[in-house]
Amino acid sequence: MSPFKHTFLAALIAAVAPVPAQAQNTSAPYLNTLAQSAGKLWFGTAMDTTTREVSDSAYMTVFNDTQIFGQTTPGNTMKWEFTEPSQGVFTFSEGDETIALAKATGKKVRCHNLVWSSELPAWVTGGTWTNETLLAAMETHIKTEVEYYGDGCWSWDVVNEALDSDGGFTSNVFYETIGAAYVPLAFQYAYEAVQSLGADIKLFYNDYGIEYSGTKHTAALALVQTIQGWNNAYIDGVGFESHYSTSWGASKASQLEGMSDFTELGVQIQVTELDVGCSSVPCSTSDLATQAQIYYDTVSACMDTEECTGMTVWDFDDEYSWIQPADYDGEGDPCLYYSDLSRHPAYTAVAEAIQGIDCSVC
Ligand code: G3I
Repeated sequence: MSPFKHTFLAALIAAVAPVPAQAQNTSAPYLNTLAQSAGKLWFGTAMDTTTREVSDSAYMTVFNDTQIFGQTTPGNTMKWEFTEPSQGVFTFSEGDETIALAKATGKKVRCHNLVWSSELPAWVTGGTWTNETLLAAMETHIKTEVEYYGDGCWSWDVVNEALDSDGGFTSNVFYETIGAAYVPLAFQYAYEAVQSLGADIKLFYNDYGIEYSGTKHTAALALVQTIQGWNNAYIDGVGFESHYSTSWGASKASQLEGMSDFTELGVQIQVTELDVGCSSVPCSTSDLATQAQIYYDTVSACMDTEECTGMTVWDFDDEYSWIQPADYDGEGDPCLYYSDLSRHPAYTAVAEAIQGIDCSVC
């Protein structure tokens, strides 16, 4: 048996069989139970089956606990590089792992993502394209992937991070070849695929830096309106990635205002990739309080916004976060759990925000 299959089977077994008690904290309060009791769809977490996570039984015990996490997002494996590594050759097995893990523990899946500047295979980034040929490749990619995963996906992030901080379009092969129309066209293709399935799969635009007023926020509002005005395209929601650090986070008031600007357009909001890096590790006492406050403010803004339907952290274990000190100038430990799977104070803050009570650890 290949090591890959062995790892995946171990993860599936871990999904259904309890493992012996270890250091991991799986005691109450339970974030997903609390969020669902308060009318939200879920409190969820990203996870990445390309890493050691799936063979880490202590990690999987927390991940599999549906009282804590009721939704998951694949960190990498549904991106273009993984799903269509060569033109017309689709490999869905790694994304299938996420769907299987989710099904085993009653989680919904936010599928992520169909079109993005990053994690593209070389045949896309280095291809010689015309408007017509790239559109055809994009349409094939989107429709094949949406139709394959079907209603295994609760939603799709159709286009990810199309905008720059100055509000212009991020330079990538799609924008350079097709122009700004690639965004509504991607939504059109995704919507056509959903219609052909006859399924209720929600279509999202997902980005960071759009959560509060500013140039990028304004540009994202305009982009949503463009998609809404496009013939046979549809957008259900906007994902607020919500990547923050203790050196900078958005206040609850600014996030509430940011959410309401979008909900006025008739779309729902989800917090999709929440994390808050400490400016250095180990986190100082004051950084832990600031981190808790930013988690609290973000979750609280979502709880107070009826159209904010779910909240997801971008993994829950510092060990596997994308923010590692070596890569981010010393910043780290941005998750709700430390590497030994004990909890940051921010976990308590999130539970309190969901319940609408004052933060005791901020
Ligand atoms: O798969 C290779 C593996 O074979 C190799 O051994 C290893 C060595 O470094 O690299 C692995 O690929 C890495 C991949 O994650 C899977 O682990 C890439 O180098 C690494 O760049 C990639 O990073 C991902 C990043 O997106 C890419 O931009 C992160 O895991 C993922 O968490 C991050 O997620 C994004 C969201 O999709 C969009 N919003 C921002 C968010 C954080 O950057």
